[in-house]
Amino acid sequence: MFKKTIVCFTAFAFLAGFTAINNAMAETDKGPAEMVLQATVDAAKKPKPAEFPHKKHQEELKLACKECHHGKGADGKQTPYVDGMKIEKCETCHYKAAGMDKKIATFKDAAHTNCKGCHKEMKKGPQKCKECHKGSDDKE
Ligand code: HEC
Ligand code: HEC
Ligand code: HEC
Ligand code: HEC
Repeated sequence: MFKKTIVCFTAFAFLAGFTAINNAMAETDKGPAEMVLQATVDAAKKPKPAEFPHKKHQEELKLACKECHHGKGADGKQTPYVDGMKIEKCETCHYKAAGMDKKIATFKDAAHTNCKGCHKEMKKGPQKCKECHKGSDDKE
């Protein structure tokens, strides 16, 4: 009886440990906390790196991943973000040769539409070039 209890307990401990490890592995990768975004595929002659506090947008501002991330289906249309999906760089899909709509044709266009669009809508967050492109002038 005593032996059985121990075996049982050991099995339980093993299972509990296994589940904990499994959960840790399944936890969503939230990406870097701070980023400097820079177009590479359709980059302008004068690079304009943009600062992006990723973690602030996720945690402090409590924005859902789907506000910025999505995928592409076999039909070429946008598929909604789902937890645990592979998150790809915007440029994987938004580049000139892919022939998307003018407003989202490049990383620059997709980012300006997404980032500035939300800042404008929420009447919060930077609209001015220099607020994102630190250290660069206000010209294209
Ligand atoms: C809310 C932040 C934000 C604001 C405000 C903003 N941009 Fe951007 N911009 C980005 C992001 C993000 C990218 C894509 C990554 C990159 O190349 O910097 C980008 C890309 C660009 C690029 C392409 C850079 C390259 O190296 O190819 C240019 C040019 C540009 N922006 C000009 C401007 C100008 C001019 C303004 C003001 C009228 C402006 N941006 C305002 C975020 C912003
Ligand atoms: C306000 C917009 C925004 C929100 C909200 C957001 N992200 Fe991001 N995330 C980005 C941008 C922009 C990048 C950089 C993409 C690029 O380099 O092309 C990025 C990059 C990432 C990357 C790295 C991808 C790579 O291969 O470099 C991961 C992982 C990620 N995000 C996960 C998440 C998760 C999970 C959430 C929700 C908890 C989330 N993000 C919320 C905008 C956002
Ligand atoms: C796996 C491919 C893929 C990736 C990666 C991707 N997009 Fe998109 N995106 C699409 C497709 C497809 C559409 C829909 C195009 C259409 O309907 O013409 C779209 C539409 C958009 C739109 C317009 C519609 C909307 O939802 O507002 C914006 C803005 C946008 N993407 C920004 C981004 C940004 C910013 C990133 C990176 C954080 C990103 N996309 C990453 C494929 C992608
Ligand atoms: C869905 C809404 C939303 C999207 C999309 C979004 N932002 Fe923001 N962002 C905000 C809000 C709201 C604030 C204002 C935070 C504040 O005032 O404290 C903000 C603030 C910022 C700030 C200033 C941070 C600070 O500490 O003052 C930067 C820089 C910024 N965003 C860059 C970006 C870039 C670059 C993108 C696109 C890759 C982006 N944001 C996309 C909502 C958004």
